[in-house]
Amino acid sequence: MTSRIPFVGGNWKMNLMRREVGELVRGVSSAVADSRVECAVYPSFVYLPDAIAAASAGLSVGGQDCSDELRGAFTGQVSAGMLKDIGCSSVLIGHSERRHGLGESDALISRKLGRALDAAVMPVLCVGETLAHRESGVAHAIIESQLRASLAGHSEAALARLVIAYEPVWAIGTGRTASADDASEAHDTIRRTLAVLYTARFSEAIRVIYGGSVTAKNAADLFSREAIDGGLIGGASLVAADFAQIIAAASARVRR
Ligand code: 13P
Repeated sequence: MTSRIPFVGGNWKMNLMRREVGELVRGVSSAVADSRVECAVYPSFVYLPDAIAAASAGLSVGGQDCSDELRGAFTGQVSAGMLKDIGCSSVLIGHSERRHGLGESDALISRKLGRALDAAVMPVLCVGETLAHRESGVAHAIIESQLRASLAGHSEAALARLVIAYEPVWAIGTGRTASADDASEAHDTIRRTLAVLYTARFSEAIRVIYGGSVTAKNAADLFSREAIDGGLIGGASLVAADFAQIIAAASARVRR
């Protein structure tokens, strides 16, 4: 089995009010305590300080997005430096709800990645195909092209702490999960692309996690695969007991 440390993220999207954030952070903190995973939660920007204050040492807190700009007249945006300043250790970049929902381009995502790296905030770069892509047989080509374009201009040394989340758009929030076989194949494509763009050693070291309707029920099957280093969880991360089971499933990768 791999020596990569499993990573599990809870993407809370635009859910939960302040009191709920505090409660859930405390619940997740205790689930992480006896696990062997790296775990991060991604609450709304406005609750980041509350989440950071409530989190145990074993649980990190990150932003759901960051600006591609350093500072200045960019109303409504949050810089990677600001995230770092308040204690965020990672940031989601290129989530499909931003790529497809808000029209973010690979070029924009690449600039955001650069800002995160410059601010020493660990980037969790999301890639994934739509249903139309998958049905027309171009899923792997799309994943590869998103990776190439998003990583363009960033060096292997700068990307040492990169995490990649494979999130097929058709599986996000739909209750439809990629099979462990399909997810594994996509992760293999990601690793092959990293080996071509950089080195085999780099591609072996980078964590590639799966996101898209991961639940307490299907997590163990997905995480039993060598290629799947953990998950980025939406809906199921909003329920402490479910998220705890998912963390435990990822943790079991280490004990094998
Ligand atoms: P769901 O787990 O709700 O499908 O969301 C996945 C996701 O978008 C995580 O970033």
